[in-house]
Amino acid sequence: MGAGIAQLAIEGGFETVGREVDAARGDAARERIGHFLTRKVEKGQLEQTKCDDAMSRLSTTTELGDLADCDLVIEAAFEDLGVKQELFRALESVLRDDAVIATNTSALSVTQIAAVLDKPERAVGMHFFNPAPLMPLVEIVRAERTSDAAFETAFDVGTRMGKTPIRCSDTPGFVVNRVLIPLLNDCVRVLDEAGVTPEDLDAGMKHGAGWPMGPCALLDLVGLDVHVHASEALYEKLREPRMAPPPRMVRMLQAGKLGRKSGEGFYTY
Ligand code: 3HC
Repeated sequence: MGAGIAQLAIEGGFETVGREVDAARGDAARERIGHFLTRKVEKGQLEQTKCDDAMSRLSTTTELGDLADCDLVIEAAFEDLGVKQELFRALESVLRDDAVIATNTSALSVTQIAAVLDKPERAVGMHFFNPAPLMPLVEIVRAERTSDAAFETAFDVGTRMGKTPIRCSDTPGFVVNRVLIPLLNDCVRVLDEAGVTPEDLDAGMKHGAGWPMGPCALLDLVGLDVHVHASEALYEKLREPRMAPPPRMVRMLQAGKLGRKSGEGFYTY
């Protein structure tokens, strides 16, 4: 997600610093972004000079201190409240007072993440969808204490990244995941209940419901770990049985079948 968001930022004309936990991941992200921008040039969707200009706007680092001059930081760390809160606190200690801190959380509360800040009004949610460079939506999430200035800055940045931003408040799952997560859980329950194969279920939802990709392929793309975590977080807050991850998904997670990222999920890669 981080690389995808950084790609959108440089394509949107922003000087961008990508911070990773180690240099190898930073290099891999730069390579990934370079690959996708080069493909756009090869397909005639982007001029070579614009590709070069975009790449020149990207620098990578492992030091949080290198973000000191940023006007806006978008956090895309592991989906764990403690991890995100610690990062928010560390970011506030290096950033200017007027810098906005955004989180790309899928299912945690933006208000709770921001509660550790001295200035929680500077925090906002910017929830991108996977794959970030291709999915047009970004949800701009107003937490309990988000200032109008921070909210509108995030909305404006989302627009300049070429996305379609929508405004929403900090409710569990925001807008899309509140609907999509139980729906994907239902799809997986149908696999067992109706004895359908992933291939047939995917074909069913693609050709019978107009989905761009089937639910099993989508879960493999998003990652079973990410989905199960989001699903559990929604269940914890809303207590609706459909929100809880189906046992088959939990078993897959326990077996390390995370989807594309681990080479195996509903499909093998
Ligand atoms: N990053 C950047 N560029 C990418 C990319 C990526 N990850 N993946 C593909 N591309 C580029 C490639 O250059 C590719 O062209 P190439 O094959 O010629 O090199 C180009 O995009 C087109 O790729 P595809 O042929 O795979 O594109 P499709 O037309 O098949 O569309 C899709 C792919 C947009 C993923 C489409 O299948 C789709 O909309 N799927 C549904 C995705 C979805 O629902 N996402 C939401 C998930 S939920 C979520 O994210 C919430 C979170 O909180 C968990």
